[in-house]
Amino acid sequence: MILPIYIYGSPVLREVAKDIDAANYPNLKELIADMFETMVEADGVGLAAPQVGLPIRLFCIDLTPVADEVPKGMPLKQVFINAEIYERGGAEVKMGEGCLSLPGLNEDVVRPSKIRIRYLDENLNERDEEFDGYPARVIQHEYDHTDGVVFTDRVAPLRKNLIKSKLLAFTKGKYRASYRCKLAK
Ligand code: NI
Repeated sequence: MILPIYIYGSPVLREVAKDIDAANYPNLKELIADMFETMVEADGVGLAAPQVGLPIRLFCIDLTPVADEVPKGMPLKQVFINAEIYERGGAEVKMGEGCLSLPGLNEDVVRPSKIRIRYLDENLNERDEEFDGYPARVIQHEYDHTDGVVFTDRVAPLRKNLIKSKLLAFTKGKYRASYRCKLAK
């Protein structure tokens, strides 16, 4: 089932999301399936639960559209539950980012190129892995959502000033998107 994507200005995007009791969370498998379906329909490569209105620490990535950027052997579709990024390193890299909750906006964001992350996968196995390059970028963006942070919080101050009116427009429901959205107050 395709879920509406919550737009910038919706308070749920600003909540620090909570860990879940994954083994007992109602309909978790269905929720994950719905999130993947929603993400693919909207042409996204990542989607976090707060973006579908749920303040829980869960996000999914589907790097199929950027498979060239993914190391061989790494699954393109992955689920991260109760994740914790506990190490960041490598080079500080500037790269353009966008977000399904801020349709049409693309801005450079500087992030470390490498992370180590602990999480539960979709089968509730405990994982502890290192990611770098594009996958690390997407994971950091989605992880931010579970902390109530959106990518525009991380753009350079000058750019932030220049996009102020666009951010304000989102909060007033003035945006265009090719997928189902929702501005919840
Ligand atoms: Ni996003």
